[in-house]
Amino acid sequence: MNATDKTTLPAPVQLLLEAAQRAPSADNTQPWSFSWDGHALHVGFDPARIEGHVFTPESRASQLSMGAIYENIQQVARTAGLTLGGASPSSQVTTNLRMVVPRLSLSGIARDEWITAQRAHPVFERHTNREVYTRDPLPNDLLGRLEGLQQDSTCVKVFSQRRDIKRIASLVRLASEARFRTRELHEWLYGSLRFPGDGMPTDDGLALETLGLPPGGGAMLKALTNWGTMSRLNRFKLFKLLALMETVTFQQAPALVAILAPKSPEHGHQAQLFAAGQLMERAWVAINEAGFAAHPSYVITDQLDRLEAGKVPLELRATVGELQRSSNGAFVEGGHALCVLFRVGRAKREAVRSRRRPLHAMLSVQAKGVAA
Ligand SMILES: Cc1cc2nc3c(=O)[nH]c(=O)nc-3n(C[C@H](O)[C@H](O)[C@H](O)COP(=O)(O)O)c2cc1C
Repeated sequence: MNATDKTTLPAPVQLLLEAAQRAPSADNTQPWSFSWDGHALHVGFDPARIEGHVFTPESRASQLSMGAIYENIQQVARTAGLTLGGASPSSQVTTNLRMVVPRLSLSGIARDEWITAQRAHPVFERHTNREVYTRDPLPNDLLGRLEGLQQDSTCVKVFSQRRDIKRIASLVRLASEARFRTRELHEWLYGSLRFPGDGMPTDDGLALETLGLPPGGGAMLKALTNWGTMSRLNRFKLFKLLALMETVTFQQAPALVAILAPKSPEHGHQAQLFAAGQLMERAWVAINEAGFAAHPSYVITDQLDRLEAGKVPLELRATVGELQRSSNGAFVEGGHALCVLFRVGRAKREAVRSRRRPLHAMLSVQAKGVAA
């Protein structure tokens, strides 16, 4: 059976799938597939959605997302009183999670009512806000809480001094300049962007209205679709202007929050990235729950990973080499390196929330589930 009717799923499975579906992914690619075998819930990567894309299942970005899925599932399960079996990901099993979901007898409450009640959990409210933030400082209790978060050997580092924020924002600018000069990344971005009325599916990717662009920003983005246009304008330093626009919001943020993982690419590296994803999600949920906004930036990590993989074009190697040296000074602590950076603050406007693909498009059911 390959049923996609959600009413065939037991209530806890439906709930955990919805929690998983809310996890963040780079450019909202949602590269996951879910399956339910009547006993255990499996989460993996959908090869069709990964193929030909910048991020493979083993990449840092994909592992961060997988860790976030697991964190969402765990948090919601805990609140709902569900103890998951077989859930611990081993160091090698981070591209396929398996969780045994217990049966739940719902006495005196309807299945849909129970699910709706559980959706009040803060993981369902976590989101990206790319609008402008005020300069109001973050309360000390939130700063302290974030700094205290840990998962395995991964940790959180908070920057709230202007001098530090400025220094890190200058790294975002450097990385961003390199990004806007890289054809592959340009094409990847435009494959993810969703302009109104362009006929692309709107339940994945980066919808224009979620980007918090200033007036005219959408038209400018559209005009730069073609790499030929972009590279011609780059001769007049357009990449510097675009990078500056991206960086200003980070420079003005009251705090930057870095998720760090051990630098060593040795045994257990994947598991550490997965743990960093759990930590990222935990921090992000806590920030939003406290009424503050968060906007991740992956641009530094991505450029450094590309440098290590030999993917940085020759003409950009000096720039990214400089980024690497400066990043070592800014983030590396006890052998840690940056996984993802956030600006955090009070947003001047509510964010438009990004959409999700329908569950039935990502789910296969191998056995008849019994509705709880
Ligand atoms: C590993 C990772 C990297 C991301 N990098 C960026 C980024 O560089 N810039 C950005 O604006 N959003 C970034 N995002 C946020 C995603 O675009 C966002 O999570 C996704 O569109 C879903 O939206 P939501 O967070 O509101 O649920 C990143 C998310 C993840 C998980």
